[in-house]
Amino acid sequence: MKRTTLIIGNWKLNPSTLADAQKLIDGISKKYKQKETQTVVVAPSYLHITEVGKKIAKKPILLAAQDVASEVMGPFTGEVSAQQLRDAKVEYVIVGHSERRAMGETDELVQKKVTLALKNKLTPVICIGERERDAQGNFFGFVEKQAKSLAQVLAPADIKKVVIAYEPIWAIGTGKTATASDVKEMQLFLFATLTKLYDKSTAQKVTLLYGGSVKPDNAKELHKEGGMSGFLVGGASLKADDFLAIIKATDTE
Ligand code: PGA
Repeated sequence: MKRTTLIIGNWKLNPSTLADAQKLIDGISKKYKQKETQTVVVAPSYLHITEVGKKIAKKPILLAAQDVASEVMGPFTGEVSAQQLRDAKVEYVIVGHSERRAMGETDELVQKKVTLALKNKLTPVICIGERERDAQGNFFGFVEKQAKSLAQVLAPADIKKVVIAYEPIWAIGTGKTATASDVKEMQLFLFATLTKLYDKSTAQKVTLLYGGSVKPDNAKELHKEGGMSGFLVGGASLKADDFLAIIKATDTE
């Protein structure tokens, strides 16, 4: 059976102009040849979402947001709601990225955002991962705690609808990638954890991604040996050719 893969480009606070965002999406969409087994998603800034969305309306590329409000509506200055995102034809939303957790996002806020995203038919891409990989393996406990916090609010039917992205913080934007065997080990650990929290058949249906310094030259090995269902890509998603090369690297079977 062919493995299905999900590749998400997280553009973060880039690029600086709408014209450059349009250039980037054109560069990706013109050359991307859709594969039945692949889903490709881009996450521009809120301000660029609508215009980038127009460019890919008839293309096999989907739209994500980088965050979502933890409230439905009302006096929450600067926030964008799940309903507004859905109305703008967004399908995925990144929740709990470590860069947002560093700004104060807690597991409780992540729970609220994930719940609202699902309610509005958005697929949450929930980021988890340790700050440091210690030799004693305490980082497994840290990741397990984050998974348990999700299980508190997600029924079995819900966990099957979310994407969990394992993004070790030490590997994000640093050029230090987890090895393929580190990624494989975490995939097995997350599968075992989800099996404990739910059951095996439910755990099998949860999409797991890896993120952290994924580049064209390491994507193939990480995908082949790492056992995850795709990648959340930051820096390398800002160059169309690099992002396309990463997409191609996941098409190994
Ligand atoms: P990076 O970012 O690929 O630049 O390390 C990954 C992410 O933050 O999702």
